[in-house]
Amino acid sequence: MGDVMSLIEGKRARKVRLAAPDISIVIPTYNERSNIKPLVDAVSDALGDIPWEMIVVDDDSPDQTFSEVSMLAREEPRLRCLRRVGRRGLASAVIEGALVANGAVIAVMDADFQHDERILRPMFEKLIATNADIVVGTRYAEGGGIGEWDATRARMSDFATRMACMLVGNQTSDPMSGFFMVRREVFASEVYDLSQQGYKILLDIISSSHVPLKIEEVPYVFRTRQAGESKINVMVLAEFLFLIIEKLTHGLIPPRFALFSIVGGIGLAVHLTVLNSLKLFGFDFLAAQIIAIGVAMVSNFIMNNEFTYRDRRLTGLAFVAGLILFCLVCSFGALANVGVAEIAIKQVNNWSFAGLVGAIMGAVFNFSAATSLVWRRPRKRIFAAAK
Ligand code: GDD
Ligand code: MN
Repeated sequence: MGDVMSLIEGKRARKVRLAAPDISIVIPTYNERSNIKPLVDAVSDALGDIPWEMIVVDDDSPDQTFSEVSMLAREEPRLRCLRRVGRRGLASAVIEGALVANGAVIAVMDADFQHDERILRPMFEKLIATNADIVVGTRYAEGGGIGEWDATRARMSDFATRMACMLVGNQTSDPMSGFFMVRREVFASEVYDLSQQGYKILLDIISSSHVPLKIEEVPYVFRTRQAGESKINVMVLAEFLFLIIEKLTHGLIPPRFALFSIVGGIGLAVHLTVLNSLKLFGFDFLAAQIIAIGVAMVSNFIMNNEFTYRDRRLTGLAFVAGLILFCLVCSFGALANVGVAEIAIKQVNNWSFAGLVGAIMGAVFNFSAATSLVWRRPRKRIFAAAK
């Protein structure tokens, strides 16, 4: 009886603490287990009496960050975990976290303490006081800084920031920031336009807006990572370039298609190299051409599996089945290529033009079929159950 009573008492106590949140802090995580507890404490200290909730979006981290969050959430009901299985990606994690947020304002922040949680309160106060849509935590304004970065990383960041400013003008000094607050309705009005790929969610939100946004800033100094390691790598940078291309072409060239085309270009080089080598070995043209096509298709499949569709990478038996399907798809792509080129050559008597039109048609066909058939979104997968 006493136990039940204390349970009810406990529930009451919790109800009192659970005011509707003003701020929903969305934290994407991948292997950040040891940062979670200190982060919750630090955010709680920083926000004081401002009602908040924290949504950690964990992509099934091998270090089981999700179970740490769930465990802490039993004591701290303002904390929740959204665990995604079979998925990876910072942007999509942030978007999905923001979609379950209930706060008037959504704050996006990293888990590794590089973003100074002590400016959360000034950011929120500024947003309210100035009636801004977005407040950016900036490293590149008076009072901010990039901390202890080495020269290479600083130059990389500087370059990326310049590129980003090309896209959005000078609306903010730090468009590459992963630390910002946005009104929930502003986010909601753009959610269909946002790219699920890549790292640059703020840049995307700013560049996707159909109305001018009021953007304010609060400076902070970027800290060094508390624990664990950075997930930024060459692929992340490549994705960033592709996001820029997508936005500049108003969605005509999605990042995945850009990567797919680059792989296709490399495949062409592979094809010609094999063809010419076999010629040296005395093969006749037809045999050499058939072998070259085979090698190019296999190498394209492997590259696409590694890079273009790395979030849906096929392994084991699925890899073999995917390879066969991919070769089939490419054969139909070649037919589409020839068919369209034939039509084009009748319209304008220009070989290069007709060839190009055919090649584009083939690439678009291959890409659509590969995306919907070969590397389609997994429906059902078996993952090791966490203890
Ligand atoms: N859910 C999920 N899925 N989270 C991820 C993933 C993923 O695939 N990859 C990274 N994260 C989480 C990390 O756990 C961390 O909390 C946060 O996203 C940022 O990842 P880091 O790997 O620490 O990124 P960084 O420090 O190199 O880059 C940061 O600084 C850049 C500024 O130069 C990020 O904030 C960038 O957005 C920012 O542009
Ligand atoms: Mn980091």
